[in-house]
Amino acid sequence: MGFFFSKLWTIFFGKKDVRIVILGLDGAGKTTILYQIRMGERIKTIPTIGFNVETLEYKGLNFTAWDIGGQDKIRVLWKQYYQNADSLIFVVDSNDRDRINEAAEELKKILAEEDLKDCIVLVMANKQDINGALSPAEVTEKLGMKNLNRRSWLVQGTSGKSGQGIKEGFDWMASVLLKKETNKL
Ligand code: GTP
Ligand code: MG
Repeated sequence: MGFFFSKLWTIFFGKKDVRIVILGLDGAGKTTILYQIRMGERIKTIPTIGFNVETLEYKGLNFTAWDIGGQDKIRVLWKQYYQNADSLIFVVDSNDRDRINEAAEELKKILAEEDLKDCIVLVMANKQDINGALSPAEVTEKLGMKNLNRRSWLVQGTSGKSGQGIKEGFDWMASVLLKKETNKL
């Protein structure tokens, strides 16, 4: 499927630039996931103060990914990176039951932003490798995803540790963005 879409995309649009913003509470696994997809391996991260920006080519799309630190004092910075985002990746620590409601609140605020009203939403229910973590279905419920109408969204179970689920999430994102573009033709 991925190959098919990338072929189509290249035929219709040449190389498409896609801007994604990766948000979520501190420690959720944003930076780990970014480097899993970038380099195919887990790297040792330190809390992000400010942001990491990476460009990567995936299935014929050029992604510019803004991974922004999630500590509460720097969450005010998130806004500066919203503009023109095609896609939001919201990373959740599925094992952090104490802060799942805080994560839900932050997501709600983000989705209320005018700049993000057209972007698609990929939630990564991360840390699925840990026993007792909330399942993707439970994360879907806790985040109130079913109340989001008119928006394309997916909750994908992932592990930044093993890499499991991350490619599937990116594949979904690429296919939805392609569909949006073809609908504009
Ligand atoms: P901030 O930069 O502070 O916003 O955090 P972040 O969301 O970038 O988190 P980061 O990627 O630095 O990961 C935080 C910790 O969780 C690190 O010790 C990671 O190794 C660990 N971690 C990330 N993903 C997973 C996962 O899927 N499973 C497990 N077990 N640990 C993970
Ligand atoms: Mg980080």
